[in-house]
Amino acid sequence: MQKIINVLSGNKEDIAPIWMMRQAGRHLPEYLEVRNTTNSFIDFCFSPEKAAKVTLQPIHRYDMDAAILFADILLVPIALGRTVTFEKGIGPLLNPLSTKDISNFQINTDVLKPVYETVCKVRKELDRNKSLIGFCGGPWTVATYMLEGKGTPNKELAKKFAYENEEAINDLLDYLVAISAEYLIKQAEAGVDVLQIFESWASDLSPYLFNKLVIVPTKKIIKRIRDAGVNIPIIGFPKNCGLSINEYVKSSGITAIAVSTETPLDQIRGLIPKNMAIQGNLDPLALRIGGNTLKKQVQEILDKVKGPHIFNLGHGVTPDVKIENIKAVINHIRKGEGNYV
Ligand code: CP3
Repeated sequence: MQKIINVLSGNKEDIAPIWMMRQAGRHLPEYLEVRNTTNSFIDFCFSPEKAAKVTLQPIHRYDMDAAILFADILLVPIALGRTVTFEKGIGPLLNPLSTKDISNFQINTDVLKPVYETVCKVRKELDRNKSLIGFCGGPWTVATYMLEGKGTPNKELAKKFAYENEEAINDLLDYLVAISAEYLIKQAEAGVDVLQIFESWASDLSPYLFNKLVIVPTKKIIKRIRDAGVNIPIIGFPKNCGLSINEYVKSSGITAIAVSTETPLDQIRGLIPKNMAIQGNLDPLALRIGGNTLKKQVQEILDKVKGPHIFNLGHGVTPDVKIENIKAVINHIRKGEGNYV
């Protein structure tokens, strides 16, 4: 059985399985080599051959326990007819949404088909004992990019929109629920073993907004997935959501919880069901810094986490991380020591 599946089923592995968010990315020279053959990041995500290749790179380089499908959470707005581009040094840019756009989406979910082809290609090549993780963004996180038109520090415009346009925000989230559920169901049918919902902007929401913007839409997605007969585990990642994690775990329907860096691992166990798997939560900055700082932080995670655990970061690998340090973390976990630099 895949180690990750065993842990997600509620069992503790003596040596925690490991993968890292953004493990396929710019810190890897072999990624940059493939990436540089396509100008547009979106075209790159929609090239099954290339996307499959980079999905598998962290397996070859690090022997991770899971590969995460190479794609992006911002492909879903494209299926709603929105324009998404990625500018070097800026990040994603979308044409900002108005209330009237929401009733006029030009929906075309066929644009997502290349992603399912990537899944098929990867699953064929990936060892059966390694897991393939599919994903989507949480509807609220995707909505923030659609409303703001770009990444912003505090999502004020999107939150204001949510308070002031009750009907429009519900409609927008419902569209995102429908497309995201279909997207995840089709990834599962194409062969992914696990799903993860990235709610990167779950922070700074009042409990009222958290329930309305995060929990309710997540619950709807998971219900659709289960109603479609798809039973694979679903990991929820409500980043930096504070104590709202309690309600999220209780009512969203997720199988396991991915926790961000600020979460004390010894305390979170007491807030969630006894055998629920916890994924996380090494500080990506410690991974960048390396040396003794990194070693201590990895050890602290191993000492503090109780019960079923998947080792991961609290957020993604950054481009300046040293390959040696990722290898050291993996050796530390699997063999008890690593050569940190
Ligand atoms: O290795 C993996 O994790 C798999 C692929 C993956 C990417 N993005 C590839 C990517 C996954 C799972 C994501 C999720 C994603 N995308 C999230 C949720 C997780 C998080 O980081 O909070 C979000 C918010 C996005 C949106 C997004 N995509 C932004 C804001 C950016 C620009 C920021 C940056 O790092 O440049 C991206 C681009 C992106 N997605 C890159 C990669 C490897 C870098 C672009 C490139 O290679 O040219």
